[in-house]
Amino acid sequence: MVNLKVNLSGLELSNPIIPASGCFGFGKEFIQYYDINILGSFCTKGTTKEARFGNDTPRIAESSCGMLNSVGLQNPGILHVVRQVLKEISSYYSKPVIANISGFSIEEYEYCAKSLRGIDNIGLIEVNISCPNVHEGGMSFGTNADMAAKVTKAVVKVADKPVYIKLSPNVTDIVSIAKACEEAGAAGICAINTLLGMRIDIKNRKPVLANITGGLSGPAVFPVALRMVYQIYKAVKIPIIGIGGISSTDDVIEMMMAGATAVQIGSMNLIDPCICKTIIEDLPERLNRLKVKDINEIIGGAH
Ligand SMILES: Cc1cc2nc3c(=O)[nH]c(=O)nc-3n(C[C@H](O)[C@H](O)[C@H](O)COP(=O)(O)O)c2cc1C
Repeated sequence: MVNLKVNLSGLELSNPIIPASGCFGFGKEFIQYYDINILGSFCTKGTTKEARFGNDTPRIAESSCGMLNSVGLQNPGILHVVRQVLKEISSYYSKPVIANISGFSIEEYEYCAKSLRGIDNIGLIEVNISCPNVHEGGMSFGTNADMAAKVTKAVVKVADKPVYIKLSPNVTDIVSIAKACEEAGAAGICAINTLLGMRIDIKNRKPVLANITGGLSGPAVFPVALRMVYQIYKAVKIPIIGIGGISSTDDVIEMMMAGATAVQIGSMNLIDPCICKTIIEDLPERLNRLKVKDINEIIGGAH
C-alpha cells in the first residue's frame, strides 16, 4: 500500500489532489459524477466582501491546450457563503475545504478573513492576491512584494486558520513575492494563478473577450507553473500547493518533485469532470511502478 497522505500546516489530506478555485464551484455540481469525499480537499470559488456578477460576456475563450477566462470573480458575497453555502457544503462533503478569498482593498481581505472565523469545515484560507488594488491605481496586490506582504499580514492577524497566499505568475520575480509572504506570516504558498493573455476574432477584428484580456490556464501553462514552484521551493520553508496546467497523474508527480506538498487541478475539471477521481485512483499504481512507498518521499525530489 502506497501512502498518499500529506499534511498542509496541520491539515491532514488523504491524498494531495484538490480541485482549484473557480473550476469546481462549491462542489455541488460534481456530486452527480462521483463521491467528492475521495478528494484531499477542494477549493471554493473566490469570494469577495460584496456579491459580484462578474465581467460582461463573452468571458471564456479557447486556445491551443488551454483557455482564457475573464469571469471577474462572480460570487454571492462572503456573508452568503458563511451563512448558507458552507453549511450546505457540510451536507455533501465531510472534510474541511479550502476557502478562497479575494478583495479590492486590504480592508476587504480582512473583512472576508474575519467573516470566516469559527467555521469548522474550513481547513485553510487561500488568499487570491491577483486582484487590482482600487486604492493604489489598480495595480494587482500580487505584483508587488510590499503589497503582497501587507495583505498577508492583515489576513494572518485576523484569521483563525492557516493562511496560504495564492500568487500571480504575471511578475518578473515570483520568488521575491513568495519570500515576502513567508516573512509576513503566511503558512503556505499556492502557485500559480492564471497568466494574462488575449485572443482576437479575425472576422470582426475585435478582441474575443468583452474584457479584452483574460487569464490563461490549462495544460499550456504547466511548464511555467512547474518552473515557478521549483524556484519558490528553493527559497521558502513553508509548504507549496502547486497549481497550473495539471492534466495527468504524471503531472502531479512532476509538480510534487518540483516542490509541491499538494496540487490543485483547475481547467481540466471543465473538460473531464472526473479528472480528479481518475488521478486519485491511478496514483498508487503509478507510484508503485516508480518504487515510491510514501508520496511524501517525492516532495522536492527534483532538487
Ligand atoms: C473559469 C476559471 C475561474 C477561476 N476563478 C478563480 C477564483 O475565483 N479564484 C482564484 O484564486 N483562482 C481562480 N481561477 C484560477 C485557478 O484556480 C487556477 O489557479 C488556474 O486556472 C491555473 O490552474 P489550471 O491550469 O489547472 O486551470 C480560475 C480559473 C478559471 C479557469
